[in-house]
Amino acid sequence: MMLRIARSRDGGEISHYDLYKIESKKGMTVLDALFQIQDRMDPSLSFRYSCRGAVCGSCAMLINGEPRLACRTQLESVGGGGLNLRSFPALESSPRGWNPDSEILVEPLPNLPILKDLVVDMSTFYNALESMHLWADPVEGGSPGLQTPEERSRIDRLVNCILCAICFGSCPVNAENGDYVGPAALAKAWRFHEDSRTVNPQRYTESATSQNGAPLCDLVMNCVKACPKGVAPGGAIRKIKEL
Ligand code: SF4
Ligand code: FES
Repeated sequence: MMLRIARSRDGGEISHYDLYKIESKKGMTVLDALFQIQDRMDPSLSFRYSCRGAVCGSCAMLINGEPRLACRTQLESVGGGGLNLRSFPALESSPRGWNPDSEILVEPLPNLPILKDLVVDMSTFYNALESMHLWADPVEGGSPGLQTPEERSRIDRLVNCILCAICFGSCPVNAENGDYVGPAALAKAWRFHEDSRTVNPQRYTESATSQNGAPLCDLVMNCVKACPKGVAPGGAIRKIKEL
């Protein structure tokens, strides 16, 4: 099994691609393959990970042109085109010499600056969440905030977000407009709006409908198809727009 991996000598952009032959085993993930390359062939290869179990959101990258979690993507399942995303230039990369029939292409997540190889700078993504004040407001002397199962079910999907930024990297609007806060931030705003314990739900929809928020979304729905946790940010954005 061969992996063609994007490298960046000085960060900032892809400088070249390196080709590695790995010893694959049944059930092996792309993250396992990256470890094998780093351990046995090239210790300078940089990538981010933590949990290895699709929980921390650290290992998002482009695998055969599709944004995926490396720890959740088995080598044998990689085909490309499975997510059926609406394309934009960053998803169409086809480096010289790449043979899609025999090589897996691994590149950094689009729409965020490259720090080194497969590691991107997440600041823009995190700053959007912070700028919208997406946290619960404390209630002075308030009760513990119990919820019924029905109330909890309204936010079930939305609380599953692991902040992997795959939706951000798969969004053609984020590709064109660096100011757009992106799907995850808007889904989180809707999550607090819908939470029965929220004291002032309007504060979240007001920030979600600011000029860099929901009005910029074209409802392409790449975020819904690519999200590895089924959060479906596009559905939340549609509801914000309807409101
Ligand atoms: S909404 Fe989905 S794709 Fe976006 S950051 Fe959260 S888990 Fe990742
Ligand atoms: S290593 Fe945590 S989500 Fe992949």
